[in-house]
Amino acid sequence: MTESVSHLDLIPIKLLVNIREDKAINSISNLTQTPATTEESQPILEIWGRASLQGEVQISGAKNSALVLMAGSILCPGDIRLRNVPNLVDIKRMEQILTALGVKIQQHGNILDIDARDINPTKAPYDVVSQLRASFFVIGPLLTRLGTARVPLPGGCAIGTRPIDLHVRGLQAMGANVRIESGIVHAHLTGKKRRLQGANIYLDYPSVGATETILMAATLAEGETKIENAAQEPEIVDLANCCCQMGAKIKGAGTNTIIISGVDRLNSIDYNVIPDRIEAGTFLVAGAITGSEISLSPVIPEHLAPVIAKLNEIGCQVVVEGNEGTMFGGNIQSSRLRIIPGELKGTDIETLPYPGFPTDMQAQFTALLSISEGNSVISETVFENRLRHVAELQRMGANIRVKGHHAIVRGVRSLSGAPVMATDLRASAALVLAGLAAEGKTTVRGLHHLDRGYENLETKFRDLGANLQRIIPAS
Ligand code: EPU
Repeated sequence: MTESVSHLDLIPIKLLVNIREDKAINSISNLTQTPATTEESQPILEIWGRASLQGEVQISGAKNSALVLMAGSILCPGDIRLRNVPNLVDIKRMEQILTALGVKIQQHGNILDIDARDINPTKAPYDVVSQLRASFFVIGPLLTRLGTARVPLPGGCAIGTRPIDLHVRGLQAMGANVRIESGIVHAHLTGKKRRLQGANIYLDYPSVGATETILMAATLAEGETKIENAAQEPEIVDLANCCCQMGAKIKGAGTNTIIISGVDRLNSIDYNVIPDRIEAGTFLVAGAITGSEISLSPVIPEHLAPVIAKLNEIGCQVVVEGNEGTMFGGNIQSSRLRIIPGELKGTDIETLPYPGFPTDMQAQFTALLSISEGNSVISETVFENRLRHVAELQRMGANIRVKGHHAIVRGVRSLSGAPVMATDLRASAALVLAGLAAEGKTTVRGLHHLDRGYENLETKFRDLGANLQRIIPAS
């Protein structure tokens, strides 16, 4: 197939500098800046397709665990050491939020030393909160420790409106007075009550963030809190394990009913963040889509059960190659996985709360199914606007039709490289995967999405033998 002509080829780029992505992250000195909008000033990722990958990739710590554990560190008026924290833009944004609240943070590689002895209920800075939805998670720890919190509404994002009603209703059920004024959520305790009160809370939907907010708030509340229809994601279990090591009393994390008995105070700890199941899943799809056998570690295979089940249906095998040796969450052993690719055939996928198929892997599987033989139907049920990568995959020759929250895919023999635009974090990963499999060259723009959530992705792919490079125009 002929290579598509990139319209970037037509833009007079004065000088291009090739940089490594870790430098790209460090060079983001002002994270509150909105990403550059002119095409000439945007970094691009050039990917030469038909990649053949081999070797082993190191999986980083889980972004979504690390973010909530950072927020959770506010619960403890002592030292918290978090290990295996990925070096990502989202993590840097959370550091900015915590620093604005008076928390002292030191970073040494992937270790964060956090001292939240002296915190103040200052309003978290809106310009950072608006770019990092997870920063809203500070509301629970601030409220339960200080009795007051003011956090700007995070607003919607590229994948949906993302309301916070379940967080608010949970805190209200525990006795907090919560009002939203001029875009700011004000939460405080009223009357003689000096602590949040334990409560029975039924979540209308098993929201990950709302479960985390209520769980953290309940650790220091008076009495027992029961969360029913709680989210069961591994990141919830990691948060509960971390809080329990601090001295919290939590039962049932990982099931749909979590019971938290409030304690007076939490203590210092040293904690290892679990491996990122979504990064691991992304590399498994990389093996499948390029027809390459690669290994990954450390991973916790149970966290990837729905992803592995779908890869099997599509025609690939994923084998556990034994224990890798690192311990997470106190007593969880990590393993090494190997993907053995096969003839790809279509299947149907519906995203659901854990242990269902993760919405954060939907875009990557859409790329994979676009070159799998036969028809597939992908149903996105978690977020209302998470199929925007389909239009970009169509530019690469995919045959996909969107109807409501379904994508109907007719597998094509191959994709062809094209200039494409990342529309959100996981969409950016999907486009990289598609580019690795396609004929010819793909150029991906919108890399600020990628940098939010994948540590050293380009280096990791290059080490597996892929041919890709980031180009940033000199300013
Ligand atoms: N929802 C409400 N009301 C609420 C909270 C959520 O209606 O008060 C709705 C949301 O609008 C959405 C659904 O519930 O439609 C699920 O949202 P959830 O609260 O479970 O997600 P989250 O906590 O906002 C986390 C991850 C997401 C991941 C989802 C689902 C973090 C920082 N983010 O978001 O990760 O997709 O859970 O698993 O933990 C990503 O990493 O790319 C990412 C988007």
